[in-house]
Parts: sequence; structure tokens; C-alpha cells
Amino acid sequence: MSQACGTQVTQTQVFNVVSQSFVAGPDAVLMAIAGAEPKEFPFTPETSEVVIGRHPDCNIQASDKHVSSKHFRVYRDSEKRFFLEELGSSGCFINNQLVKKGEHRALCHGDAIKIAPNVTTESPFAFFILQVNPCEGSAWKGDGVPCPPDTSERSGTGEIEGMPNGKTEDWVTKHWDIRHQLGSGNFSEVRLGVDVKDKGKQYAMKIVDKKKFLQFQKQRESVLNLRDEADMMSSLSHSNIVKCHSWFQTEANMYLALELVQGGDLLHCLLDGGAFPEHQASRLFHQICDAVRYLHVEKQLVHRDLKPENILLTSKDRETMLPKLADFGLARKNMKSRDCRTFCGTPHYFAPEVITTASSSDSKNAGYGKQVDMWSLGVILYILLSGIPPFEEEQLYRQILDGKYEFDVEEWNCVSPEAKQFVTSMMTVNPMERIDINQAVDHPWFKISRFCTPTRSNVEPGGRSFAEEPSAKRRKSEGTMGTMA
Ligand SMILES: Nc1ncnc2c1ncn2[C@@H]1O[C@H](COP(=O)(O)OP(=O)(O)O)[C@@H](O)[C@H]1O
Ligand SMILES: [Mg+2]
Repeated sequence: MSQACGTQVTQTQVFNVVSQSFVAGPDAVLMAIAGAEPKEFPFTPETSEVVIGRHPDCNIQASDKHVSSKHFRVYRDSEKRFFLEELGSSGCFINNQLVKKGEHRALCHGDAIKIAPNVTTESPFAFFILQVNPCEGSAWKGDGVPCPPDTSERSGTGEIEGMPNGKTEDWVTKHWDIRHQLGSGNFSEVRLGVDVKDKGKQYAMKIVDKKKFLQFQKQRESVLNLRDEADMMSSLSHSNIVKCHSWFQTEANMYLALELVQGGDLLHCLLDGGAFPEHQASRLFHQICDAVRYLHVEKQLVHRDLKPENILLTSKDRETMLPKLADFGLARKNMKSRDCRTFCGTPHYFAPEVITTASSSDSKNAGYGKQVDMWSLGVILYILLSGIPPFEEEQLYRQILDGKYEFDVEEWNCVSPEAKQFVTSMMTVNPMERIDINQAVDHPWFKISRFCTPTRSNVEPGGRSFAEEPSAKRRKSEGTMGTMA
């Protein structure tokens, strides 16, 4: 058994283990982080398991009554992969997922193990993080991929000179466990990122492929900069905008550690459940507008890529979910810069002036500003209330330029005239006549819609929902960057 010596653990004094003389370069460390000061239980080559419980034979002893005589053990197999076996009847939690008595689970670098008296307890009295030494050739990463060998200096700071927030791959491996994919886009993917050095806190790690980004930049002669998104997001503070916790870069990638938003995005919510009744749409859309007001008025920023998949949701419950604006990859300061003429965003949410500006050689027609976001907001509200997109796939740009959309379809039958007027005031072809964000936030529809009782559901039998639309129509909202530059 290990050299992790057994002494008493209580709820107030969480771990009271005789301090270990830390063997240099252990294979892994089980780190206790709920106590006054962190304690570490190393797995040396001789350690095959660490048992936690009230029994005096346990390597880590606990006195709290919620802990079983032998509560769980962390062990490894002959290939040095780590596992947890739950031994006690009350179970434990790996990354907040319950593990029941008799179950075995593979453990990854950065996994958080808690003993909590019940599922809802936020402050468990026993909390460990497993840190696997990247030198361990076959260290289990959960997806069958061994950790990459550690080639750089272990004691170094991991910084790359001359590169702002530049880090080595080794530094990234030591500090972050980058897990399953949460979503992806044009030159980036978003994965669950666990900060193994900071209590296993979880983030959405946006990883931008620098090479792909620079290719795009060159092709489009775009002045979009790799650092723009990180800098911009770090400067924002609004409850309906995704926060950027930190960022760093390696030779290959740019990493943004973003606030993790757990309820998926609005596009998938619409595809799963169809249109929103007015009272729910009103609550959600008002918060979206407030976030855009913050950008336009307080920050002088244009998002330029507002669409349902860039609006994240904190839960799947439509009565309580909060929206959070994401993806500031195309956001710009609201100036008439040359780059504001770059044709970008998603075609189905393009404002008419985006199309005319991009196809015009008229130098007086120098770009577009905040009003493009207002048009996109109109398209979003259209979809929220009806569950269908306003434009057909065929001759898309022509329809946008002509403002050719209609409410004369079944999906709009039971929606209030105030809602239609609100959509029309945002989806007005002439940007000078389109309402601005201050007018939108104060629109009368918000007052009346709160009291609208749902008269129909857009998923009722026979009704067309976003989810039932033919894929060609659905793809409208899944479009990507425009192809004209
Ligand atoms: N903070 C986050 N929390 C959870 N999921 C996220 C988060 N940020 C992005 N995602 C997921 O990743 C997808 C792509 O992210 P996004 O920032 O829009 O990248 P891109 O610029 O490549 O479009 C989103 O549609 C969403 O599904
Ligand atoms: Mg996106």
C-alpha cells in the first residue's frame, strides 16, 4: 500500500494527514483541496491504490459520519491507467456525476472526486483532484489517447518569449485538461477545459487554429486580428454576455477560457422544442437586447454575427433559462473602418446593407455599423416566435434586399400584432429607418407580451416547427461565413 499515512479527517478539519515527503516526479497525485491547506497523496511506482474511509486501515481516514468505513479507492491497472471504485453505499461524485456502490470509473487527469452527503451539496467536506504526471507514457486520458510525452523543461515557466501570453504545449498539458467537444465553428473548436491547478474549475475552452485563421485573414485581406476576440471579450462585463476568464496561446493555437454555459445554444433549443410562446420569447429577447444595448451604447461595439447558435443558454428550462451572447470573433469597434466592409457573418442574418456594401465598389459607401445587429435581432425574433426562418433558401440575397418576408403564414396566426410590428421595425431594409437598440429595449411589446397567455404551441400536432422544417430550410441558420469578401 501507499505511503499516504492514515490519520483523522473531520468535516471542519478536512484532512489531517501526516505530511508527505513528496517524492520527486510521482506518477500521479491525488490532491485534497477542501481543507485549510491542500494535501497531496502521491502515487509512486510502488503505489497501486489509495483507500479513503473511516476504517483505521484506510490510507486517508475520515471521521465524518457520512463517510463509509471504506468509501472509495483510487487504483491503477498494469497499464498505469487510473480508476475509482466506489465501496460505500452512499456513493461519491466524479465531476458531479454520481458513482454508486460497486461501480468502477476511469479517471482522467484533472477529475474532481467529491464525497458529499447528498447530490445538491455544493461544499463537500472531501474533495480531491487527480493529477496525472504527463511523463507517464500510458496515462489514461479517458478517450484512449495517451498523454503526449513531456519534452520541454519541467521546471520552466512554460512561457514563450516574444509571444504575448505565449505558452509551451507542455505548460498547457500541465495546467489544463482539455476534454470533449462542446461545439465548433470555422477555424475553432470549443471543448470542456478543466483547470487542474485551480480546484478543477471548468470552462469552455475555445481553441482557435492559428494557421486556419491566418489563411482566412490573408484571403480576405481582413484586418481581423487573432487577439481581437480575447481582448474584446476580456473587456466586457454583462450578465448576458459570456465572460472570458483568461487566454493564452501556443505556436499552433489561441486558447480562450470562457465561462461554461451549460444549456446548449438557442438554435438547438428551437430545433428541439419549436417556437417560443410570447411571454417566454419576451423575457429571453429582452435580455438579449439588453446585452446588445451594452455593446452598442456602453462599449461602441458591433457584434456582426448575431444568430441563434451564438446565443447560449444557461439551462434547458424555457421559463428560467438565461441567454448569453457568445462568439465575438467578428465583433468590431463601431467605426467606419475598411474592415467593416468585409463581408462576414451568416448569410441568413445579413442585413441588406451588408450585401449592397460588399458588392459595391462605391468608395463613399464606406461600411456599416450597429444597425446590422438590429436587422439580425429582427431575424432572431422572427424565428423565436414562429419557429421558421423568414427567408427561403432560393434567391436569398434578393429576398433580403427586397425585405421579402411575410407574417401571412400559419405559424404567425396567433402571434400578437405588436410582436409583428416589432419584428418589422427591426427588419426594415433602410438602416436609417430601422429602430436602434434603445428603441428596441423600450418597445411596447415587452410590456404586453408578459401577459400573453400561450394560445397555441408551435409544436402542437399539425403545426410546423423549426425542427420539422426541411433540412434545406433549417440549414439557413447553420450557414457560416459569407463567401464574398
Ligand atoms: N462558453 C461556452 N459554453 C458552452 N458552449 C460553448 C461556449 N462557447 C461556445 N460554445 C459552443 O461552441 C460553439 C462554437 O463556439 P463559437 O464561439 O460560436 O465559435 P466559432 O467562432 O467557431 O463559431 C457554439 O455554438 C456553442 O455550441
Ligand atoms: Mg459561432
